[in-house]
Parts: sequence; C-alpha cells; structure tokens
Amino acid sequence: MASKLSPSLLRTAARPACRAQRLHISHARAFTAGSPRRSADLAVHRNTPNNNPDIPFKFNAKNEAVIAEILKRYPPQYKKAAVMPLLDLGQRQHGFTSISVMNEVARVLEMPPSRVYEVASFYTMYNRSPVGKYHVQVCTTTPCQLGGCGSDKIVNAIKDHLGIKQGETTADGLFTFIEVECLGACVNAPMIQINDDYYEDLTPETTKQLLTALKEAATAADPSKVKVPTPGPLSGRQTCENSAGPTNLTEEPWGIEKTRPDL
Ligand code: FES
Repeated sequence: MASKLSPSLLRTAARPACRAQRLHISHARAFTAGSPRRSADLAVHRNTPNNNPDIPFKFNAKNEAVIAEILKRYPPQYKKAAVMPLLDLGQRQHGFTSISVMNEVARVLEMPPSRVYEVASFYTMYNRSPVGKYHVQVCTTTPCQLGGCGSDKIVNAIKDHLGIKQGETTADGLFTFIEVECLGACVNAPMIQINDDYYEDLTPETTKQLLTALKEAATAADPSKVKVPTPGPLSGRQTCENSAGPTNLTEEPWGIEKTRPDL
C-alpha cells in the first residue's frame, strides 16, 4: 500500500516546490522599462502658503448666477455632473484650481471632495498650482513637430525669449510655459495656446513678437495703445485655407439651377 502511495505522495510534495521555483524564476526575471518621465506637476496636493485649505474661497455673485444656470441642466440628484464647468469657473475666478476651489465645488455640488480632486488631477486644463498671467501652452505632438518650421523651434524660441524652462514661470509672474499634446489645430501647425486663444502658423520670429507684445500690453500704462496680434494664424491666412490660393473649384459651379451648355 505504502509503495503504491509513495509515487503520488512524492509528486504531491514536489508540485509546490516546482511552483515555488517557477514563481521564483518569474519574479527574478529581468524586464525592461523606459526611464520614468517626471511630470512638471505633482499628482498629489501639498499645502503651500498660497494653496492650502485654510485660504477661504467663495464664488462671487456673478459666478453664483452662472452656477444656478448650469445646475438647471441636470436633475437635482445628478448635480455632481456639473463638476467640470464649476471647476473651470473657480479657476477663472481664483486664477488657478486651488484646494480651496476644489473644496468649495465639492460643497456646492454635495459630493465628496476626493471625487472633485480626482477630476481636477486627471484633466491637465485645471492648473492646480498658480500660473502666470499668460499661460503659454506649446503643442509638441507630431503634426506640430513636423508642420511649418516645427514645434522644436517654437519651444526653443520661447525658452530663449522668456529665459525659463518647461513648467516654470517668469520672475515677473507674466508667463508660464508648458508643453502640451495636440490642441486640435494641426492644420495650422505649429501653434500655441495662450490662455483661451490659439496662435497658429508660427515661426520663431512671430512667436517672439507675440510674447513681446503681450508683455508690453501687460505693463503699459494704456494697454489699448499696444497692438497685440489677433488670435488665429499669424501667417496672413484667414483660417486654414491653402496659402497658395484656390487650386480647384475655381470656376462657377453648375447645378440644378443651371443648364450645361453642351446639353
Ligand atoms: S498636433 Fe499640434 S494642434 Fe494637433
């Protein structure tokens, strides 16, 4: 009996040992990974003198009226659906999406603050630390890298002109510069977004002229006297039409209103 059982007992005893060995091997197996890329921004909140929960924040009367309008879009039990527009309003009023802005949005929408933090830390459009008066976001995705002079030249022009690196703000608090992914204006590459405006078809020269004009407008006694380029393409194009002019559909089209002369 014992001799009949022993092979099976041995096999049973051997199995965990083999499994442990396999696990050991798989744990020890070397794997390759790219070097971690440090974000310019922390994913977590750290209290600072200008961003901590003790700094009071309340929406002003004008924004409270806007919030009332926004909340009408949702059933009362789903008012947390308004978290994104309210965070945006808070950012515009306060200058950035501080912890106090997030807490106030959570209070207004009756949702856990952690839910608001999740949204604000997921979307890069919410600036969770202070930014300059002009938030310069340079698109460096492939079409902007390849289009026109290429975004690398625009990035270098901005760094040279402002004297700051990605993620930094100028000492005068006027400009913050970051690189971003596609902003949806690839056809007019390379382009940058400054606050709510797009500037497109850029060259290093037009980029520097734009930054100079913005600085002059911010520091002039009478900003209306400073000519800041109009948002859009800085190449003279109206939108995204062919800069060489029309190349097709150049003749009067014919349709049901017209009879072809050869018929
Ligand atoms: S790649 Fe730059 S706007 Fe799309």
